Amino acid sequence: MEGGYTIKEGIEIARRLEATGKIDYISTDLGAADILHMNLPPSSIPPGYALEFIANVKSEVKLPVIAFGRINDPVQAESILEEGKADLIGMARALIADPELPVKAREGRLEDIRACVACNQGCVWRVFARLPITCIQNPAAGRERELGIGSLKPAAVKKRVVVVGGGPGGLKTAEIAALRGHRVTLFERLGELGGQVNIASRIPSREELSGIVRYLTYRLEKLGVDVRLNVEADVEVIKGEEPDVVVVATGSTPTVPQIPGAENLVDVASVLRGEAKVGDKVLLLDLDGHWAAAGTAEYLVERGKEVTIVTPLMYVGVDIDFPSLIPLYRKFYEKGVNMLPNTMVKEVKGETVICADVYSGREKTIEGIDTIVAAAGGKANDQLFKSLKGLFREVYAVGSCVAPRRIEMAIYEGEMVGRKI
Ligand SMILES: Cc1cc2nc3c(=O)[nH]c(=O)nc-3n(C[C@H](O)[C@H](O)[C@H](O)COP(=O)(O)OP(=O)(O)OC[C@H]3O[C@@H](n4cnc5c(N)ncnc54)[C@H](O)[C@@H]3O)c2cc1C
Ligand SMILES: Cc1cc2nc3c(=O)[nH]c(=O)nc-3n(C[C@H](O)[C@H](O)[C@H](O)COP(=O)(O)O)c2cc1C
Ligand code: SF4
Repeated sequence: MEGGYTIKEGIEIARRLEATGKIDYISTDLGAADILHMNLPPSSIPPGYALEFIANVKSEVKLPVIAFGRINDPVQAESILEEGKADLIGMARALIADPELPVKAREGRLEDIRACVACNQGCVWRVFARLPITCIQNPAAGRERELGIGSLKPAAVKKRVVVVGGGPGGLKTAEIAALRGHRVTLFERLGELGGQVNIASRIPSREELSGIVRYLTYRLEKLGVDVRLNVEADVEVIKGEEPDVVVVATGSTPTVPQIPGAENLVDVASVLRGEAKVGDKVLLLDLDGHWAAAGTAEYLVERGKEVTIVTPLMYVGVDIDFPSLIPLYRKFYEKGVNMLPNTMVKEVKGETVICADVYSGREKTIEGIDTIVAAAGGKANDQLFKSLKGLFREVYAVGSCVAPRRIEMAIYEGEMVGRKI
């Protein structure tokens, strides 16, 4: 239909399908190419966003109606049924993140559920990239034969394991090692677990990432992992534990690019932690293509800053899935964020930033910038790993201390090392 069809027309279609007598149930959905965030809702779209529409369908037909969309919690699912808004609950990503959700719900083990955080990274992004799906929290997704339910075996020899670093990589290693019966101690130099995920989840659209840390922290408590906060583990601290195995998960430190004349240059992590002094007119240099850059821009515009994003990449957020980009771009356009793709910063002279496009080299100046914020990736914190080699029988490294990457690889490598030791 030209221009698509409205919700009213959708309900009429449902009624006519029902009238054919050939349909057993109505499975609801919303969306179209330009509103993909309604079909594959990212974490910026609130849970239950489609319920009014679903309840409307339900009130107009007699066939059973299936609800859909950001339903990842059995309590929420039950209340939808109790309120008569639907007859059945559809869950897609909730079951990719935790295929055992229905069993855990039936047994009342709600805290054991690894809830989907609607990051759209392993599932939706990879579908668009024509890759097999994965899940950032569940390494078994897409690898069911190798890592699926029933594949984790108790360790033949119970070992004394020390994990250094309480980011997602260290947390996952500790969980799997403890599940297999090892005695695990985890050192974290800060006063809280979570590593860089605690920074990433300060981005307004990405607050739900904190669920990854909440779940793994709960698992470690339940499995009796000895977590020692505010301890910077060095060779002596680790030797004191007399470990059989050491797993280093010390993450990465942000890098800041060298730009001639750039004095007020800070990294995204220090901005999100609230440590960096940021003026009113900000230039955000995006060498990242993912949420570290675009998400920090969102954080800054929500605080009333005037933001220009400069990136040598094809567009801002090239590594972000389209359903997440649509509401983010809406916000950027509404708040007047200036985006300059295919452009690099060359030099800074006072409050003037000299840029050049990456294809012709043609220069462009931006005036009145008081702060430059860079999302330029990180450098692996691998010193501890290097100094431990040869001192203990088994030493492994997982996550961003191997090479700075994203949460999925930290969790995947934690799972694999946890299974190996
Ligand atoms: C702004 C920002 C946004 C991001 N957004 C996303 C996103 O949307 N999606 C995504 O997938 N990834 C994102 N990332 C990247 C992601 O957070 C990292 O890939 C991930 O946290 C790496 O996990 P890790 O466990 O390897 O290391 P980290 O998370 O860096 O954790 C390492 C931990 O080790 C501790 N530590 C270090 N040395 C010691 C020591 N000697 N003793 C004790 N403790 C020590 C540190 O304090 C830290 O807690 C983002 C990163 C940033 C900065
Ligand atoms: C990996 C993946 C593949 C999907 N494939 C389709 C599809 O082929 N057709 C479709 O209409 N919806 C598809 N969807 C959308 C889901 O049916 C569902 O509407 C959406 O994921 C929102 O529900 P959820 O919050 O329970 O994940 C897909 C979703 C995911 C995560
Ligand atoms: S990758 Fe993210 S959105 Fe997809 S199922 Fe896993 S947690 Fe949910």
